[in-house]
Formats: sequence, structure tokens, C-alpha cells
Amino acid sequence: LFASDTPPDFSALRVAVVGDLICDHYVVTEPRGLSREAPVIVLRHRGEHVQAGGAANVARNLRALGAPTRVVGVLGRDARGREVLEILERDGVDVACVETIPGWTTPTKTRVVAAEPRRSLQQVLRLDREPDEPAPAAARERARAAIEELSRSLGALVISDYDYGLVDADLGRAAARAAQRGVVVVLDPRGTVEGFDGVTALTPNVAELAHFTGRHAGDLGDPRALAAAARALLEQIRVRYLLVTRGNDGMALYGDGLDPRGVAVEASGAGDVTDVTGAGDTAAAVFALALAAGVEAPRAMQLANAASGVVVMEHGAAVCTPGELAAALASAPAPVRIG
Ligand SMILES: Nc1ncnc2c1ncn2[C@@H]1O[C@H](COP(=O)(O)OP(=O)(O)OP(=O)(O)O)[C@@H](O)[C@H]1O
Ligand SMILES: [Mg+2]
Repeated sequence: LFASDTPPDFSALRVAVVGDLICDHYVVTEPRGLSREAPVIVLRHRGEHVQAGGAANVARNLRALGAPTRVVGVLGRDARGREVLEILERDGVDVACVETIPGWTTPTKTRVVAAEPRRSLQQVLRLDREPDEPAPAAARERARAAIEELSRSLGALVISDYDYGLVDADLGRAAARAAQRGVVVVLDPRGTVEGFDGVTALTPNVAELAHFTGRHAGDLGDPRALAAAARALLEQIRVRYLLVTRGNDGMALYGDGLDPRGVAVEASGAGDVTDVTGAGDTAAAVFALALAAGVEAPRAMQLANAASGVVVMEHGAAVCTPGELAAALASAPAPVRIG
């Protein structure tokens, strides 16, 4: 019983993540009252900070769990891009395959948060800055080439798509070739699954599963409808596992050797949920690491769910350490059959 609570040692697994690198920019303020100029609230600026989001957050999560991690992607050659790069380097992520592109805007989500002294933060506004076009074709081609080259020495590869144009069918085919060579390849999809036929697993949330199968996300709360949507996606694309993340409903797993009705875990988390940003990044990172470490898929889901339950209790896009994962596993919900 005791040994089963211990997460595997991931420190010998070389991993990579390719996808959209994002800057999460927080502006922390204090509310002052209503404006006399317009019906809006006035906030007093208190400070600001940035975090590494999107694929950069997946990379930080992989690294925090002990795996030597390389990130492949592009940033703008701008202030936000530099800050994301610095965070990745500070956290020990290998950034040799990150290209900075002059004139291209680093995708940036600015969240204005407000808090009264000693009260919890509340998001007031989100402002998105986006590049006008996907990264140049030549940079995308270099990212693909890096994947081909790296795949000879990788245990796991995560593709983190936030729909900024790096992840396309060509990248999918490169990822699928990596899977053919024995790399565990996990796609956290947003825009497309085209080209990814043959990768190991997909980790959509419910909205993404609905989008790929032409359904309404609101209808997929019912386990039968969810399983039917999962089957529909598994007919569209050949993958071993489909891990559907369901927010505060936990996760459901479908695929090879599993009950067609699915295997599920309830959301874990001992305390108050503070910020769900990046929980899906943690889920994809841990699921990929666990599969690459030889863990059975339902147990890999349990680990991913436990780790996600840790990060939702912290502000911003957070990471889960091996110690936190071990502690969370002691009381983690077990996988059960649903439907
Ligand atoms: N409110 C919550 N309470 C407990 N656990 C949660 C909550 N929200 C998310 N989680 C955990 O995090 C996992 C991933 O969350 P979710 O399904 O929201 O992914 P996502 O939509 O891809 O997130 P994002 O893209 O913002 O990172 C869930 O399966 C669950 O384990
Ligand atoms: Mg997600």
C-alpha cells in the first residue's frame, strides 16, 4: 500500500515539449471605487509580474517533476518573450530550440487582478496581445526538424497547442513518426488533430472534445454522451488513449484495453481551488511522463489528476513537485468505471 503511493522517479526520462509559448502577465491592483468619468471601477496599481504559460508552462511542469526537459517553439524578440525565456532558463528548462523572431509578437495574456488588503485576488479584466500571423514557415519547419532530431533520444514528447499556429498537420506527422520510434507522444489539442494519427494519446478538455466531434460541451456532462463523443473522436484519429479533462469533475479515460464506457477519477484537491489556469498543462505533462515511465494508463490518469489538484490550489499557472505529488497521492481518488 505504501509503495503504491510513491510516484515513479522521472529524473532519467528525457522529454521535450513543442507548442505555443505564451506570456502570462499579471497586473495586481487594489480597488478604489467607481470612476466619475465612466461607469467603471478605478484600480490602483500595486505591481506586476509575468509567468511562463502554454507550452512553456508544460515545460516547467515536466522539469519540476524531475525530467530533463527541452522546449521547442518560438517567441517574439520582444520584452515579454525575453521574460518567458528567462523564466524557462531559471527553472532549468533547456531552451536551445527556442527561436526568437524579430517583429513577431509574443502571445501575451494580461490579467488584471484586484484584491482588497488580505482578501483573495479577483480577476477583473483579461487583455490578449496576439501576433497577426503564425510564426514564419521557416521557423515552423525548424521546429519540426528539431522534433525529428530529438525523437531519437526522447522518452516522451508533449505537443501543447494553444492555436497560435505552430501546431499543424505537418508537425503532427513529425510527432507521429516519433511515436513510431517508440517515443510516448501526447497531444494537448486545441486547434486541430489533423496529422496526429498514430500518436500515443490526446488530452482534450470537454470543450475541445465537443469541438472536434461537433457536439455541445453542455451535453457531455452525461457519462454516456461523453463516452459516445470519445468513441467518435477515437474513430477520427488512431491513438492509444484519450484522456478527457473535465475541470472540477475530474477526468475520464478511453482507449486500448479499457471499458468502452470509460474509466474515471473524481477531481482531487484537499483545499480551496484558487486558480485553475494551467491545470490542463499539468495534466498533459504528468500523463505523458507516467506513460513513458511504464505506468498503466488508468494509474497515469490518477497521477495526472492528483498533480492537477495540487496546481489549482496555487495562484497562476503553477507546477507540482515530486514531494507534492507523493503527498497528494496519499488521498487521491482512485480510477473507477463509469457509465
Ligand atoms: N475546480 C477544480 N477543482 C479540482 N480540480 C480541478 C478543477 N479544475 C481543474 N481541475 C483539475 O485539473 C484538470 C485539468 O483541468 P481542465 O479540465 O480545466 O483543463 P483545461 O481546460 O485544459 O485547463 P487549461 O487549458 O486552462 O490549463 C482536471 O481534469 C482536474 O483534475
Ligand atoms: Mg487545456
